[in-house]
Amino acid sequence: MIVAIDGPAGAGKSTIATEVAKHLGYQLIDTGAMYRTLAKRAMDLDIDLKDASSVAHLASTLNFKFELHNGENTVSCNGEELGKEIRTAKVSDASSIVSAFAEVRLALLELQREIGQNGDTVLEGRDIGTVVFPKAEVKIFLTASAEARAKRRVAQMRRGGEDSEFETVLSEIVKRDKRDRTRTMSPLIKADDAVEVDSTEYEVKEVVDLVLNLVNERSQQ
Ligand code: DC
Repeated sequence: MIVAIDGPAGAGKSTIATEVAKHLGYQLIDTGAMYRTLAKRAMDLDIDLKDASSVAHLASTLNFKFELHNGENTVSCNGEELGKEIRTAKVSDASSIVSAFAEVRLALLELQREIGQNGDTVLEGRDIGTVVFPKAEVKIFLTASAEARAKRRVAQMRRGGEDSEFETVLSEIVKRDKRDRTRTMSPLIKADDAVEVDSTEYEVKEVVDLVLNLVNERSQQ
């Protein structure tokens, strides 16, 4: 079974996807982490982020491994486990830039489908239910207002010892949303058959239970 969880930055996709994958014992594929790793490596190699074919070529050299060990999902790229370095504001912005190119998306799409063929999988991203796995058995579109998402992000950064201005974080989120929603190739949109959930109206456990119920219903059909 494929469970697709799409939505804008900061809507809580990772938290929900991680919990759901853990409960079900499914592998978890964070497709945003793939775009982030690609952007980080391109920056480290001084590749121009607007040079679509160089970035796409770099994408074809990346070997991602998503593994489930004792109930914990880990992800590595070319043998290196991914860490906090792909979660900075700079990498967030760069990943949104490189993800708009058709060639880049095609290179990662192939990888995502290949990994997803391995069996029961939860995938989180922007275009899982629309493009990567349009036949996914369960599709969730997780949303929240930009203000609520910025507030969460600031709190999360403060917990990690980083200080940040609400207004700055909010404007970064609005900018990234606009880029992700308006690009020509696989823009962020809700699939017709996805269930839309506003994460500010529910507790994490309620959303997780909702997804698990959908999985349960589908597995009995
Ligand atoms: O979910 P995230 O914030 O880690 O994603 C980082 C960027 O990658 C996001 O701005 C858009 C892009 N992305 C995408 O275009 N398609 C996906 N399936 C996942 C992420």
